[in-house]
Amino acid sequence: MDSAIHSVDTYPLKGRKVLLRLDLNVPISGKGENRKIDDDTRIREALPTIKYCLEKGAKLILCSHLGRPDGKRNPEFSLEPVAKHLAAALDTEVLLSDDCVGDGVHQIIHHSKERVILLENLRFYPEEEANDPEFSRELARLADLYITDAFGTAHRKHASTYGVPSIMSEAGAGFLIKKELDYLSRLIENPPHPFVLVTGGSKVTDKLKAIDNLLNFVDKIVVGGAMAYAFLAAEGKNIGVSKCEKEGVAAAAQILAKAKSRKVEILLPVDHQIVFPEKDANFTSPSRIDDIPAGAMALDIGDRTIKKFSDAIGSARTIFWNGPMGFFEKEQFLAGTKAIAHAIAKNDGIKVAGGGDTLSAIAVCGEEAGFNLLSTGGGASLKFLEGRGLPGIEVLKGKGAPVKTMYNIEGDFS
Ligand code: 3PG
Repeated sequence: MDSAIHSVDTYPLKGRKVLLRLDLNVPISGKGENRKIDDDTRIREALPTIKYCLEKGAKLILCSHLGRPDGKRNPEFSLEPVAKHLAAALDTEVLLSDDCVGDGVHQIIHHSKERVILLENLRFYPEEEANDPEFSRELARLADLYITDAFGTAHRKHASTYGVPSIMSEAGAGFLIKKELDYLSRLIENPPHPFVLVTGGSKVTDKLKAIDNLLNFVDKIVVGGAMAYAFLAAEGKNIGVSKCEKEGVAAAAQILAKAKSRKVEILLPVDHQIVFPEKDANFTSPSRIDDIPAGAMALDIGDRTIKKFSDAIGSARTIFWNGPMGFFEKEQFLAGTKAIAHAIAKNDGIKVAGGGDTLSAIAVCGEEAGFNLLSTGGGASLKFLEGRGLPGIEVLKGKGAPVKTMYNIEGDFS
């Protein structure tokens, strides 16, 4: 069976209607009229595919989810601010359709002069997350071909990510998915060694399966953030009142045992920035210490740990980073995350980062330019690294060999 995934640029697009599934699930703050986009990365990353389709003469029907409205129409989850943002970024009109399916949408698509139509939040329909076949058929009827660039949602088996491409004969991927897969697949297909996994954040259990698979590829794992306290607890060390996920200790013990049998070195913090929350409720007086005493809460890695972690990172040829090293949102606990971001950014190997908090931390540290890929999919990148494929990507394999028409034989006629 043909297992190729067809890229958007292998399809003829002139005069054709393209249903383009994007992940425009961007953070939005404020209410009502004052809703505003706090980080437009996902919108910016979607632009190359959108612009390409427009240049080639397609009519675009964009679709996405936003947040988790649980199958109910809710104005606080409307894609309206996204439509406005897109219109400004593309310098073209973007028509927001209140409905995703039904006669009204067909009317809009056929009669509107705008070439970019954005369907309202797909998750206003319970059928979306249920991967309902009739809803998928209705969405599929809107267009001639399906393209997805929604890497951040590719781990979801929903109507718009899975049901629609399963039934459309022409389906392919956009440039963002291509970029994500190019780098993420390098991590689990012959990565250059040494390969160092840098992991942190709060939950070990969320990352257990990805770490389990990565143990087949990595040489070292650097563990910081609250996750590190689960590992230290699993080793019988005192962690005081540091944040520690209950189920995380058993998960950490499992990783430690497997790493030992695989001869993968696990590097844990050897010193910490601590506070005593009972006496210092606002965490204003942190101090550095090697072992965490009773009543103390560790909120960042210390200088000796920074040195130890940075040395391991310095000699790596492949690095994947998911999870900050401490409570970086507070200035007094930013140093560990900042030093690690800098150590990774200045390495000249392959450097990939994923996860919302990690990307925010990299932005706070001003190190974005030092990474080959800042994955737009936190959950999706971890799922991909579990090594069992993503439904929204797998479904594209062997789909609709591009139809040969005069346009793609002869090139661009737009
Ligand atoms: C994300 O932000 O991780 C994606 O948009 C998927 O959203 P979900 O976790 O609500 O499915």
